[in-house]
Order: sequence, then C-alpha cells, then structure tokens
Amino acid sequence: MNICESDKLGHALSCYGILKANVLQKADIVILNTCSVRDQAEQKAFSFLGRAEEFKREKPNIKIVVVGCMAERIEHKIKHRFKSVNLIIGAKDIDNAAFKIADLCDISNYSIAERESDKAFDIIKYITVMRGCDNYCSYCVVPFVRGQETSFKSSDIIEDCRLAVNNGAKEIMLLGQNVNSYKYDDIKFTDLVKNIAKIDGLERIRFMTNHPKDLSNELIDMMAREPKVCSHIHLPMQSASNNILLAMNRKYTYQQYLMLIKKLRVAVPDISVTTDIIVGFPGETEEDFEQTLKAVKEIRFGGLYVFRYSSRPNTRAASMDDDVPLEDKKKRHSIILKESNKISIEIVASMVGTTQQVLAEKIEGDVIETRTRSGRKVFVKCASKKDLGKQLNVSIKEAKINSLFGEII
Ligand code: 5AD
Ligand code: SF4
Repeated sequence: MNICESDKLGHALSCYGILKANVLQKADIVILNTCSVRDQAEQKAFSFLGRAEEFKREKPNIKIVVVGCMAERIEHKIKHRFKSVNLIIGAKDIDNAAFKIADLCDISNYSIAERESDKAFDIIKYITVMRGCDNYCSYCVVPFVRGQETSFKSSDIIEDCRLAVNNGAKEIMLLGQNVNSYKYDDIKFTDLVKNIAKIDGLERIRFMTNHPKDLSNELIDMMAREPKVCSHIHLPMQSASNNILLAMNRKYTYQQYLMLIKKLRVAVPDISVTTDIIVGFPGETEEDFEQTLKAVKEIRFGGLYVFRYSSRPNTRAASMDDDVPLEDKKKRHSIILKESNKISIEIVASMVGTTQQVLAEKIEGDVIETRTRSGRKVFVKCASKKDLGKQLNVSIKEAKINSLFGEII
C-alpha cells in the first residue's frame, strides 16, 4: 500500500515538474511516506527524519514533508520533535498531497502536457480498490489511522485498470486492507475481478490482502477458473493458537484457516500461500507459540512475514499486559524465520528442472527479473529489453535460497 501510494504521489508530483532525485543529497524536497502498523516502522521514520534534519542544516532551503499513517497519528509529536519539518499530510489526505507540496514550493502551473509526457511504463500497476478497515483486530492501528472501510466505485477501478493496460501494464495488483469485503452497489470483489479480467491485453491479476474470515468459496472458484488470476494468495494467519486468535479478534479458528488452505489447494493445485505471523502477542505462551510453529511446518507456506508484537496506541491489545519478554519475542521470531527459510529452500529446490511461465518485469544488464504465476522471482540471463513485459517460458536451472535462475526456452 505504501509503495503504491508513494508511486501515485510521485506521478502526481511529476505533473508539477517535481521529479525524483533518487539520492537524498540531490533533493530539494524530502518527502517521507510513513507507516504506523508496527512500532519499528515508526522508529525507522524517526531516525530518517533525524538524518533529513541534519541534511537541512547543510542545505537550509530544502523542504521536509511527512505524509502517511504516522503523520495522521502523531502530527503534533512530529512537529514538536522535528522543528524543521515544513509540512505534514495525513494518510486520509494523501490524494491532496501533491497539490499541497507544490503549493509549499510555490509551484502552481499544473501542466497537462507534462503529465501526458511523463506517463511511466509500468509493467505492474498497483490499483487501490478500497481504503480503511472495520475489522479492529485487537493489535492493529489501521482502523484508527486509515479510517472506516470504503470501497471505490467499480467502474472507476475498471477504467483505471484499462488505462494502465493501454499504457503498457501487463499485470494489475489490486490493493485493499481486506479486498474480500469489497462491495460497491451490488458488485462484490469476485465480480470486480471477473470484469477486470475481460480487459484485452491484461495478462495477470493479483490482489492483496485477504482476510480468512471473508475469503469466500466464490472467490476460490474464480481463482480456479480465471486464467489471468495468478496462483498466489496472501492470507495472513497471525497465529495458530485459537486462544490467541480469539484475543486478536480475528474471528476464525486455526481449524477454519486450515480448511481454507485445503480448499485453495484443491481448487488451484499449484497455488502458493503466503502469510503474516505475529509472535509475542500478549499472553502468548510457549504452547501457543508451538502451535504456530507446528502450523508453519504443516502448511508449508510459500513465504511468510513474521513480526514481533508491538503495542499500538488506541488498540484493544494496548490495554493488555505486553507480557512476553523481548528476548522471547526475538527467539520466537528467529525460530519461525529459520523454519520458513528451510521450507522456502526446499520449495525452490523442487522447482529446478520444471518449466515456468514468467512475466519479465525488470532488466539489469542482460539479466531479466521475472516472476512466476505463484509469485517467485526468477532471474533469466541473456535476455534483451524487448522481452520486458512479455510472458516467457523459462526452464529453471538453479535455486539459491529464495531465488531461482532460469533460461528462456
Ligand atoms: N505488532 C506486530 N505486528 C503487527 N502487524 C499489525 N499490527 C501489528 C502489531 N501491533 C502485522 C500483522 C499484519 C501485518 C501487516 O503487520 O501481521 O498482517
Ligand atoms: Fe488491521 Fe485486522 Fe484490518 Fe488487517 S484486517 S488492517 S490486521 S484491523
């Protein structure tokens, strides 16, 4: 979501002639797009702001702008602690950010011509289908910083997708905090995806994030039937202990989660399921953790993100006793990571010798970075620029930790 919003802001700013500097030392405006989901992300933002302020002491004319969730949450604290920040724009106001930044810099001549000429050729286009979240998982700050769930008008989304495809996009990634609860008039998420799939020239569709409590049979069916929908799903499990899931207010049990995985694997046999896990949630015992570890071994996720629980303001869990010692959180984190890496290595190793259909996304020298339908990166040598944006059949020759190396057939 942050990458998508930074991207959008970048495009919008280019309409005012404000372009990416790529390195801090060359910037006239420093824009920090923040995330509030975990405490660590906020700490990183603080340390970046410290560096930006130092830079401003050398170059006093630069402007510092903070946007996003954290700007929404702690505007006053940022203002107080970082006196040289010029502008703060909250997550809910992100659509007006480019205008406000241009205004701050006294740039007013909005140029459509520039906008047209600046259309970037994005092979993968991120499109937001909904904003906010009403689920109130007890650890999560999102409902407080991003507000109530709102689905965007389906015809606008489809038009955005069509425009992206006309501009060269081959893959659309639909984004929302919980895409499964998308609803606009009578259009549900499955209908939306089916309509997007009709766009000529579009080759792949992905979406994230999914909530297990809302993942419908209809959507699983659609994934099985619709060839443009990739065989990958990100389905955050968070924990496999029913006590913890209940305390997290996730509204499913581990058994129900497992059932979904089984259904998905029957419907889409080559599907890769990835997940998010939190370790050290208040009250998580060794036994609870062991259940999560067992689930990781049992399910064999295609990949996972594991986070140490951090207390977030306003959330229900913030009033619970954050009683798992940091050392235990760290230990649990590394155990899950180690197990997940081991499984990943086994999965990629088993792909050596197979043929995969990949989409060529980026080129660096004569190596093309591609991705399988299940979301794995494959580096392909001896490719050329003309392969960019194409679907290629690749024979997998080598596997290294998480990456695959292949040759075009
Ligand atoms: N502490 C740790 N991890 C969290 N996440 C969300 N809130 C917290 C928190 N307070 C994780 C969840 C979510 C992912 C985006 O971030 O796993 O799925
Ligand atoms: Fe946060 Fe839960 Fe909403 Fe995801 S579904 S954004 S974890 S409240």
